[in-house]
Amino acid sequence: MSDDGNVVSRRDFIKGGFAASVALAAAAVGAPLVQYIQSEKVVVGKVSGEQKNKLPMKIANVKDLEPNSQVQFVMPVNPDGSKGRHPCILIRLKPDLASKAGTEFKAFSAICTHLGCIVHLDPESSTIYCPCHAGYFDPVTGGVISGPPPKPLPEVKLRIDENGDIWAEGWA
Ligand code: FES
Repeated sequence: MSDDGNVVSRRDFIKGGFAASVALAAAAVGAPLVQYIQSEKVVVGKVSGEQKNKLPMKIANVKDLEPNSQVQFVMPVNPDGSKGRHPCILIRLKPDLASKAGTEFKAFSAICTHLGCIVHLDPESSTIYCPCHAGYFDPVTGGVISGPPPKPLPEVKLRIDENGDIWAEGWA
């Protein structure tokens, strides 16, 4: 789908600023992330085409995501409230997790709380995975399941409107 839809290609997204956002995050956390963003694994799955500078921000439509999949997007503010372009992931949970969560959709910071690598949904384990040091996070709560991350992933507050559009409203 093109920029006028909800999803753009991987290449467009990288050109559109996600890589720059990650690079900024890398500057804050150091070399491990710099090395990681040079790999081919930064962008996993679909990417939101709406990269706005203010909230609320439309991320995608419910029809854009199959259960057990993710879309990447960029928040215009960091979890601490400072301005910045913060990589995030929107996840459509698989049915058993959705019933546990009481919602099908969850969104979190995509920056690992260990050393700042970019996390993604691992469809096989249905967990959020950090490939740098095998950190695993719960896709319902953002909490750490295993590995070195010291803290949960910050969560994004979502709203789904009557058209099925999913909006990021801020940090939860
Ligand atoms: S940076 Fe994610 S586990 Fe180390």
